[in-house]
Amino acid sequence: MTTNVHLFDHPLVQHKLTLLRKKETSTTSFRRLLNEIGSLMTYEVTRDMPMHEVEIETPLETMRSRLIDGKKLVFVPILRAGMGLLDGFLSVVPGARVGHIGLYRDPKTLVAVEYYFKMPSGMKERDAIVLDPMLATGNSAVAAVERLKEARPRSIRFVCLVSSPQGIATLRQAHPDVPIYTASVDRELNDHAYILPGLGDAGDRIFGTSDRRRSDVLRQGQAMQRPLSFATFRRSPLAAIVAPLRAEAGRRRCPPGRRAVRAHAHAHDRRHARPPAGAPGDRRVAGKGGFPGASRIACRAAYRHH
Ligand code: URA
Repeated sequence: MTTNVHLFDHPLVQHKLTLLRKKETSTTSFRRLLNEIGSLMTYEVTRDMPMHEVEIETPLETMRSRLIDGKKLVFVPILRAGMGLLDGFLSVVPGARVGHIGLYRDPKTLVAVEYYFKMPSGMKERDAIVLDPMLATGNSAVAAVERLKEARPRSIRFVCLVSSPQGIATLRQAHPDVPIYTASVDRELNDHAYILPGLGDAGDRIFGTSDRRRSDVLRQGQAMQRPLSFATFRRSPLAAIVAPLRAEAGRRRCPPGRRAVRAHAHAHDRRHARPPAGAPGDRRVAGKGGFPGASRIACRAAYRHH
């Protein structure tokens, strides 16, 4: 593995990860497995924590024995999927403190916007362990670590379950001092910045908010190009993104007809051209309520159903 990238290759972690990835794994099992993996990860990620000796008394005699240095650890889940790993970590280190970082992707600028940040006091003496099951583009991880560094913890480690080569490279480049711990480096990202083969949307699977129709749409990049039925479209998360476009379309009274629709969609593409996922200058944040590429499709869908 690359320096500062550690693989959780324990058979138990790998076995549970396989079960977790399966699409038929229920929300209950997904949560349980993630918890169990979290507790197994805790051993590995805390393996080299600095220690000091103290003198204690056993019921029989005095001895010198070791304790972890500094104040209690702080676990920092990135909302919301990071919460899925938290209980497992706390089950092994129940006295740890918990900080939270909430980020969402601004639909206009595509940059990670912080909506919540709360850390315990005494961060300078604490080792922080950032938790997020998926390291996809790496953009939210970079933003989270950047913000966390302002609180000046003694050290920062980043723990994820599944990562992409691109996410690792992005985080390594921005924060080479932050070790990355992952159970798998998967093949690649798809057009929507989801990890392949991955496990789907971790947040949705943890909290049971997945929409089968959306999963179908996300399965393949090309799937987004297929026309959606109006009923399916209306129930999908795209509808919210499309609403303002539909209103605009209504105002402009785009003439019906395929050629006009296509011309208008192309004009929209040109106006909103941006680098593909992962290209230099691409600032989108994967999977945080984000839907890279949606606006273009949404625009088409809006006109299709106008
Ligand atoms: N976030 C997820 O939940 N899954 C991915 O595959 C990528 C980002």
